[in-house]
Amino acid sequence: MEVTVKQYPEKSIAEYFSDHFLTRPQLTVTSPGRINLIGEHTDYNNGFVLPAAIDKSIQLSISKRTDNIIELFSVDKNQAFSASIDRLNVSGLLWPDYLIGVVDELLKAGYKFSGFSAAVTGNIPIGAGLSSSAALECATIYALNELFGLGMERMDMVKLAQKAENNFVGLQCGIMDMFASMMGKAGYTIRLDCRSLDYEYFPLRIDGYKIVLLDTQVKHSLASSEYNTRRNECFEGVRLIQKKYPAVHSLRDANEAMIEETIDDAVIKKRCLYIIQENNRVTEGCIALTKGDLVAFGKIMYASHAGLRELYEVSCKELDFIADECRKEKDIIGARMMGGGFGGCVIAIIKETAIEPITKKISVEYRNKMDRNMKVYITKLNDGTGAAK
Ligand code: GLA
Repeated sequence: MEVTVKQYPEKSIAEYFSDHFLTRPQLTVTSPGRINLIGEHTDYNNGFVLPAAIDKSIQLSISKRTDNIIELFSVDKNQAFSASIDRLNVSGLLWPDYLIGVVDELLKAGYKFSGFSAAVTGNIPIGAGLSSSAALECATIYALNELFGLGMERMDMVKLAQKAENNFVGLQCGIMDMFASMMGKAGYTIRLDCRSLDYEYFPLRIDGYKIVLLDTQVKHSLASSEYNTRRNECFEGVRLIQKKYPAVHSLRDANEAMIEETIDDAVIKKRCLYIIQENNRVTEGCIALTKGDLVAFGKIMYASHAGLRELYEVSCKELDFIADECRKEKDIIGARMMGGGFGGCVIAIIKETAIEPITKKISVEYRNKMDRNMKVYITKLNDGTGAAK
């Protein structure tokens, strides 16, 4: 006998909003996570990055209120939180801070608006280094800008979202994550000059290949403290170089010879060398991509991983294991750890027809050697933050 199982469609964020707040939302926004093809830890050193927005996103539905209350609801955590615009403090729950932090920065910048109700959900894996927090900040600022007619340009929103993360959440991150989430374009990566904020879209022509993320499923606890330490080590490098070369204001203005000449400290020297080399790799990588030379691009990715492991020292054994396994596969063009480090994902360019057998094989090895499960996300490059279609 044939049994028909009735399929209930999953509820949309607008429906969750209506169920929770008993009114329909005025606006629904979608905001993507990001990958980064090359250019790691270069953003806060005024260097180059090559990120892209992906097909995993945060969804946010929102409506104005007539008072000054902010009411928030997280579908995924099944948690509600409320605050008054007149008194904004850290929530103690973390997720509301990404929204409240944006409100706080907007108010500090002089924008005027009333309270609002917002519900959020998403499918960006948390802690995997795909910038779910930046996506949430971008969703919030985009929604508030639309809802209250604040008249902000996209780049203003990017900068303000970064300030929210720096000042309210307290992570001294660079601008890459918010930039990629807000400025993404389907099928394109974006080369951003983090000094001038000039950017250029690069079509990603990798016919027959796909960008695959191999998630270690670890996030070591030193991730954020080491992030700030690396940042300070780079700034210390600049201070030392400046004594001889006063025109150097960031590692972007320096070269390897200057570092050899002015920095004795072995650790600071390694960090600075990595940044200079990684900036060069972004430039070379863009040339390779423009020519359609995937083999050259793949080599640049492996070189980036080696630098992150040996000179910048932000990798970990799980990331190294997966990157090393990738290197053995002829159907993988290139691979490297992605994002801040100490866990998260390896980004790999894999031949489409080989994705299944290769990722299965690496998963088994990873399980055997690291005693963990690896997750696999096949990604598409997508549009940046915008009204939900
Ligand atoms: C994190 C930060 C970014 C960037 C990367 C490393 O994702 O949020 O600003 O510094 O690490 O490239």
